[in-house]
Amino acid sequence: MIITIDGPAGAGKGTVARFLAEKYNLKKLDTGLLYRALAKEVIASNLDPQTHATEIVALARQISIESTNQEDLRTEIVANMASKIASSPEVRKILNQLQRDFAHGDPSPFKGVILDGRDIGTVICPEADCKIFLTASSEVRAMRRNKEGGGTPHSHGEISKIMVERDTRDQNRKVAPLSAAENAHIIDTTHLTIDEVCSRAAYYVDQLYLKKKNINS
Ligand code: DC
Repeated sequence: MIITIDGPAGAGKGTVARFLAEKYNLKKLDTGLLYRALAKEVIASNLDPQTHATEIVALARQISIESTNQEDLRTEIVANMASKIASSPEVRKILNQLQRDFAHGDPSPFKGVILDGRDIGTVICPEADCKIFLTASSEVRAMRRNKEGGGTPHSHGEISKIMVERDTRDQNRKVAPLSAAENAHIIDTTHLTIDEVCSRAAYYVDQLYLKKKNINS
């Protein structure tokens, strides 16, 4: 079973993915961490995405699923660089392969996989069993990110501005822009509590199990 969760920054993807992974015993991949792991290397090597495309593609080849286990990936500075390098088709091609291998590998002892990101339901796993797309107003998303902290030295206004910039870039890039798959279940989390969002998402997964059970019985 493959479940996908897409949406902009701060919409609640991570929380919902963790919840569903635990509830349904799924192997989880936060695909943004692959872009962030590469971004961290790009920052450390002082590379400019505008002028060092070849060097960045070479670094992308060294990224693996294990790269997502590093510390220090959750700052907005790393996220912003991740969003910049994510517009490169060559970088995406390399990281896409890692994500597809993860999605289609043997999940055992887990019952299936869950991936969250921006293009999982549309590009990485268009065949997924259940696709969820989370949205929320930019104000609420910035507030949530601010609460999370992540060691960022930015004020609420700055976080809000950086996030809007990042979303605009992610939504408008030529390759695999952030968008909901046609058959995604869309949940607007602006006025919902975490528990409400999680139980709505679980409802869609339960429907899927019920459907499968009816087909098999
Ligand atoms: O989910 P996140 O905030 O950790 O992602 C960081 C950046 O990585 C995001 O702004 C765009 C990019 N990204 C992407 O282009 N495609 C994905 N599937 C996941 C993340």
